[in-house]
Parts: sequence; C-alpha cells; structure tokens
Amino acid sequence: MNILYISISGNTRSFVTRMHALSEQKHAENTDFPIIQSKEIHDNSLEAAMTEPFFAIVPTYLEGGNGVDNGDQEILTETLREYIAFENNANYCLGVIGSGNKNFGHQYCLTAKQYSEQFDVPLLADFELRGNNSEIETIYEQLVAEWKKAQ
Ligand SMILES: Cc1cc2nc3c(=O)[nH]c(=O)nc-3n(C[C@H](O)[C@H](O)[C@H](O)COP(=O)(O)O)c2cc1C
Repeated sequence: MNILYISISGNTRSFVTRMHALSEQKHAENTDFPIIQSKEIHDNSLEAAMTEPFFAIVPTYLEGGNGVDNGDQEILTETLREYIAFENNANYCLGVIGSGNKNFGHQYCLTAKQYSEQFDVPLLADFELRGNNSEIETIYEQLVAEWKKAQ
C-alpha cells in the first residue's frame, strides 16, 4: 500500500514511520493487512511516473493570512504538488491526508483540502502534528479499506 509524502520538520515522517510499523505488525498477524511502502519527496526529488495507486500525505505550510480571504499561498510543500501533477500521477492518487495544527484556525490542513480540489481526489483524513496512536490506527484502517476498494 503506497504512500507518497513530504515532511519539513519531521512530523509527517514520524506518522508514516509509525504507521509503517503498525502495518508490519498487523500483516504478521494477518496477511490481509498490507504493509505500507512509503516514498518521501524532497526538494530535489525528480518527478517520476507512478504506476500503482497511492495515497498522499501533506503537511500545511502557508504564507501568512487567515485562510478565508487571504494567505493560502502554499510554501515548502510544492514539490509534492508538482509530483502529483506530473504526467498521469493524479489518476493513481486514491486520496489525500492532511497534517497540520489546529492553532491555525481556518487554515488547518488547508493544503490537503487544496490538493483534494485540484486533483479531484477525496480528502480522507487529517491529523495534528505527529498524530497519536489511535489516529494512526484509525487512518491505517481507513486507507486499507480504500486500497481494497481500488484493487
Ligand atoms: C511556518 C509554519 C506555517 C504553518 N502553517 C500552517 C497552516 O497554515 N495550517 C496548519 O494546519 N498548520 C500549519 N503549520 C503546522 C504544520 O503543518 C504542522 O506542524 C505539521 O505537522 C508539520 O509537518 P512536518 O513536520 O511533517 O513538516 C505551520 C507550521 C509552520 C512551522
């Protein structure tokens, strides 16, 4: 089960790493549970054509503003947006998950919402910062259900 993500300060990376560990544990108990294969996109990542379905996890970094009538300028995470926009990649995207911080009010996870609109894919879930274990479990199960639907 493929996940493409970007992480500037490490929260999303931590979430994906812990979800990967959970997927291995679940898979060991029951092979119906898929192991997560993740790919972290970096500033210098070369875009590549995806050949299998994937989920995207994106943290939120916006320049100033309030998310209502200004300040929705994405910064730092554009490499992931460009990666998804590359060739037919968006067609393989099964959905997007947002990472953010509720202190940002209306801008909470706004980048994930914008990806959902731009690429016409569902916004499947969101979590704050590194996410807690219960969110990791719930979101993993949600992704598994979507993954199986797409098979
Ligand atoms: C400069 C800056 C701007 C941010 N802007 C937002 C924002 O507009 N909305 C939001 O929900 N979170 C915002 N955040 C919080 C991050 O999205 C959050 O910490 C996220 O977990 C970071 O993920 P990463 O560590 O994987 O990069 C901002 C954080 C920083 C440092």
